[in-house]
Amino acid sequence: MISERIKTIASFVSKDDIVVDIGCDHGYLCIYLKENNLCQKVIASDIKQSALDMAISNFLTRKLQINSYVSDGFNNIKEDFNTAVIAGMGTNTILNILKSNRTPNKIILASNNELAKLRKEVNKLGYVLKAEKVILDNKHYYSIMLYEKGKQRLTNKEIKYGISHNQEYYQYLIHKNNEIIAKVPFKKKIKLKYENYILKGLTEKK
Ligand SMILES: C[S@@+](CC[C@H](N)C(=O)[O-])C[C@H]1O[C@@H](n2cnc3c(N)ncnc32)[C@H](O)[C@@H]1O
Repeated sequence: MISERIKTIASFVSKDDIVVDIGCDHGYLCIYLKENNLCQKVIASDIKQSALDMAISNFLTRKLQINSYVSDGFNNIKEDFNTAVIAGMGTNTILNILKSNRTPNKIILASNNELAKLRKEVNKLGYVLKAEKVILDNKHYYSIMLYEKGKQRLTNKEIKYGISHNQEYYQYLIHKNNEIIAKVPFKKKIKLKYENYILKGLTEKK
């Protein structure tokens, strides 16, 4: 039931964290954190009552006491927290949620798309990208990012490719670019070949 992606998100959670899972859906992350005693407290939330009902039913089956809120982002979370997980949504939705004035010091993000935009904009919001893990789960690469409040200037390369140093992932990106290069006009070919040159450099780094 627990995917590698959920386990990787959980690997960024620490014992002292009071975690709110924004968009918990089925509640699997909350269950994993609670059953394995990985944090001080976990709070479940989702914008959809139907999703939260499913999570609550899963908590009850396992006899887990987890406070749960229907909430658009942080708006209706009626208790304190110091860590938020926002995972399994698009970058624009995540950025909208982060416009709140209740953002905690630590956030763990996993976006479905536009990773470069996410890195750039979250950095601008005043967060430092502390760590990033890219994992292959069910034939799909997922990037999980750990942020803490602070100032940092990411390089263009870091914004575009992240800081995971995952060699297989970079090789995968090169392979995808090569597939596209065969089919696109000259100008686009040059751009993709340059991207591959940068990615090759990253694969050669220790
Ligand atoms: C694809 S599920 C991801 C579930 C889980 N976080 C995961 O990563 O496996 C996305 C969930 O986010 C919820 N969601 C979307 N926008 C939201 C928002 N603004 N605030 C809270 N939850 C939201 C949806 O209702 C849905 O249950």
